[in-house]
Amino acid sequence: IESAFKGARYRVSEAHDADIGQNTVKQYSVEQNEHFVLSVQDDTDGNKIIDLVLDKELDREKEQSLEFTLFAVDGGNPQKSGTANIHVTVLDANDNAPVFDQATYKASIPENAAVDTVVITVSASDADEGINGEVTYEFSRISERAKKIFSLDTKTGEIKVIGSLDYESNSKYEMRINAKDGYGLSSDSKLVIDITDVNDNAPVIYIKSMISPILENLVPGTEVGIINVQDRDSDANGQIRCSVNQNVPFKLVPSIKNYYSLVTTGQLDRELVSDYNITISATDEGSPPLSSSKTVHLSVADINDNPPVFEEQSYSAYVTENNKPGSTLCSVTARDPDWRQNGTVIYSLLPGEVNGASVSSYLSVNGDTGVIHAVRSFDYEQFKNFKVNVMARDNGSPPLSSNVTVSVFISDVNDNSPQILYPSSDRNSFMTELVPKAAHGGSLVSKVIAVDADSGQNAWLSYQIVSSTDPGLFTIGVHSGEIRTQRDISESDSMKQNLVVAVKDNGQPPLSATCSMYLIISDNLAEVTELKELSHDDNSKLTSYLIIALVSVSTFFLTFIIIVLGVRFCRRNKPRLLFDGAVAIPSAYLPPNYSDVDGTGTLRSTYNYDAYLTTGSRTSDFKFVTSYNDNTLPADQTLRKSPSDFVDPFEELEDSGEVGSVQTLPTSLP
Ligand SMILES: *[C@@H]1O[C@H](CO)[C@@H](O)[C@H](O)[C@H]1NC(C)=O
Ligand SMILES: *[C@@H]1O[C@H](CO)[C@@H](O)[C@H](O)[C@H]1NC(C)=O
Ligand SMILES: *[C@@H]1O[C@H](CO)[C@@H](O)[C@H](O)[C@H]1NC(C)=O
Repeated sequence: IESAFKGARYRVSEAHDADIGQNTVKQYSVEQNEHFVLSVQDDTDGNKIIDLVLDKELDREKEQSLEFTLFAVDGGNPQKSGTANIHVTVLDANDNAPVFDQATYKASIPENAAVDTVVITVSASDADEGINGEVTYEFSRISERAKKIFSLDTKTGEIKVIGSLDYESNSKYEMRINAKDGYGLSSDSKLVIDITDVNDNAPVIYIKSMISPILENLVPGTEVGIINVQDRDSDANGQIRCSVNQNVPFKLVPSIKNYYSLVTTGQLDRELVSDYNITISATDEGSPPLSSSKTVHLSVADINDNPPVFEEQSYSAYVTENNKPGSTLCSVTARDPDWRQNGTVIYSLLPGEVNGASVSSYLSVNGDTGVIHAVRSFDYEQFKNFKVNVMARDNGSPPLSSNVTVSVFISDVNDNSPQILYPSSDRNSFMTELVPKAAHGGSLVSKVIAVDADSGQNAWLSYQIVSSTDPGLFTIGVHSGEIRTQRDISESDSMKQNLVVAVKDNGQPPLSATCSMYLIISDNLAEVTELKELSHDDNSKLTSYLIIALVSVSTFFLTFIIIVLGVRFCRRNKPRLLFDGAVAIPSAYLPPNYSDVDGTGTLRSTYNYDAYLTTGSRTSDFKFVTSYNDNTLPADQTLRKSPSDFVDPFEELEDSGEVGSVQTLPTSLP
């Protein structure tokens, strides 16, 4: 055994020689070798004890066996010898511990290494043989944590990953590995495993603060939030770039490390965009890079920055007169895009005047709906249109408002029947027309004058004779109202002619009025007295009064006749012109308030003049002149119709602008 100490003896058998005495075995020697020497001793019987003595210790690991020769010689002459080969087998002793091939093992492995990945294989060798040289491995000093992550194959020395690595929680493991042979000789070595970082952590975004809602009038550049980003990886894997999505008016401004401010980049307008989804993205610089994003929702708070705006520039309402009070005329609408009360629109009438009265006495507006109602019934004849201003105001504070003009147009309704100005319908005034006996067919005899307060078709008058004493004798111009003879007057015609004329307007439905006209065919005013019985109001008082009047002014009348005859003499060659209405007259003949406006079929003053002539010297002319010149005449019933009486109604009508044409008046006769 290699572990035998120096001096260990190994007996060798004696040599044998058949000779005796001197010739028998005398001496032993051994071939020169490193380990053994020969020791020969005599025992008490004279026998020799031969031992091989270990002179130098053996090492099986160097020399597993050795061979040398043992010599024995006799004392004869010649000397004879014998040899024996000695074969030494060195037996193993466990004299070698296992030895690692490295004093310190170093390995590195990425943190994302899969289970069963071989980290490193350690190996130790043992020079011994058999069980003495059988090496097994085990961890000697190892943390509990590492134990869960790494395994060591006891036979092969292979170290494998069995758990999950994480650079971020532990980036380095150190342990000792023990190698042991079969009989317990051991040695150990150090193993250092470095975990290398892998970009396995995406950046994490933390919203540290965020203002929401934000006011829409924020100055661009205002900070609305603070963001923090973190990445657990190291180096480039932990370098983060941050951004926000493109289509929002926000950006990130880096502040201290890994902190960013979210600031506005432009003017916000809640009415355009009322809330934002801001996506913040963070990307690290690993390869491949990892990124993450977070969306924050920001809503924009309202500011009362929009006034209500009317849908139309102006509004028009059309209403027919005589409307019911309270009827709806139109409605106005204004829109305000602001939020809640900042966008709630309230309508009101702006103070103003229409025809001297407050607008509120004409219209009212529903504050909530903008519907405009008439407060009263309108009269087209009073006014045709008016304007009011409606204000729309929101409910913000301070409120914003805008105006719109509403024009109300009143349309005419045929609510006025024609009004006959001549002949007067007053039953007390009894008027007649004198028709000269010599009148030819087509001569203008009289004219019915009527007006209608309405307008347009409603005031378009047509005239019609509805009954007459002699239906064939007179005709009336449908639109002019002129009464003309239809044929020459003949002797057989009745002296008294009555016409009933209807005046009708063109409204829907039409309204009409009638009047009676008394015509007397006569050249002599004296004859007219016979007609007194025609008067509805015949009494003796009138007669006596007329006589007194005649006597008192007879002198004037005579003078008058002379003047008239003179004029008549001048015009003798063209007497018919007196009737055809074609001769213009100086305007001085017209009373100041009368004007010949339209000229259609107007009864000219020339005829008027002629009427005085032909009626001779009776009451009619006389009374006219008198009353015209002398206002002191007592106001008798029958004489009430002085020219000034006629003037008044015209004046009124002209004021209202409705009188189309006013004609001169022929003679009136009580
Ligand atoms: C923001 O996101 C929410 C929820 O996903 C969605 O309902 C909303 O419409 C988004 N708003 C905008 C302005 O995109
Ligand atoms: C209306 O606007 C004002 C500022 O003009 C604001 O203070 C208020 O909060 C707004 N109201 C609503 C309901 O948004
Ligand atoms: C509304 O109309 C009134 C009167 O015309 C005017 O004085 C006022 O300035 C107008 N207001 C607005 C907001 O247009």
